[in-house]
Amino acid sequence: MAAQSASQYDDAYGSEGFYWGKKPSSLCDRVVELAGPGVEREPTLIDLGCGEGRDAVTFARNGFRVTAVDLSLPGLEKLARYAQEEGLHVDTAQADVREFQLEQSYAVVFSTGLVHYLLPATRLARFEHLKQHTTAAGIHAHSALVSKPFLPAAPDAGPDVVLFRSGELMGYFWDWEILYTAEDLFDCTSGGIPHRHAIDRIIARRYAGAGR
Ligand SMILES: C[S@@+](CC[C@H](N)C(=O)[O-])C[C@H]1O[C@@H](n2cnc3c(N)ncnc32)[C@H](O)[C@@H]1O
Repeated sequence: MAAQSASQYDDAYGSEGFYWGKKPSSLCDRVVELAGPGVEREPTLIDLGCGEGRDAVTFARNGFRVTAVDLSLPGLEKLARYAQEEGLHVDTAQADVREFQLEQSYAVVFSTGLVHYLLPATRLARFEHLKQHTTAAGIHAHSALVSKPFLPAAPDAGPDVVLFRSGELMGYFWDWEILYTAEDLFDCTSGGIPHRHAIDRIIARRYAGAGR
């Protein structure tokens, strides 16, 4: 995976504290329950757009073999320090998820707050690439910010974000088993200004007879 340009979060991740906190996302908690080591010994998991690692470190703590990917080097450095302090190991890679090529398959392909950075015209191909690199009966879990006419744009939304339409995320998994999907509104204070988001979440499973 080749090194890429900076993330809009580099300054925040380079500062003290954890911009997104250390509490894992609700999607992370669901995946731990669903696909934790009770199901497969040390399942491989890739966390795309991992930020400072609140989920990646939680996955490692729960017995997953974790690779964490982000554009932000300061984020990855903070994640590696955090994992080390916890006595855990997470492989890190700086890469642009819009174009990088996976070289192996994973039991779990995970992201929170990342896929709305994918360009709409390339999303289908990007999801197909990620789905192809998932083991038989492997899991995908993603969340995407979605556009709602009654919600103003978030004050810290970067220029690279293109919000999903409701239901779009589910469409990329039409040929997989949908284990969970939901849309919620939530309050957020990222960037220091209170605002609201709408978010779609999905967990889907690849057919057991497919994959490598
Ligand atoms: C909203 S943050 C979520 C961080 C983390 N998943 C969490 O929930 O704490 C989105 C993350 O995606 C990363 N990101 C944005 N565009 C990216 C890209 N094209 N390739 C890789 N990472 C990207 C950002 O650097 C940022 O860390």
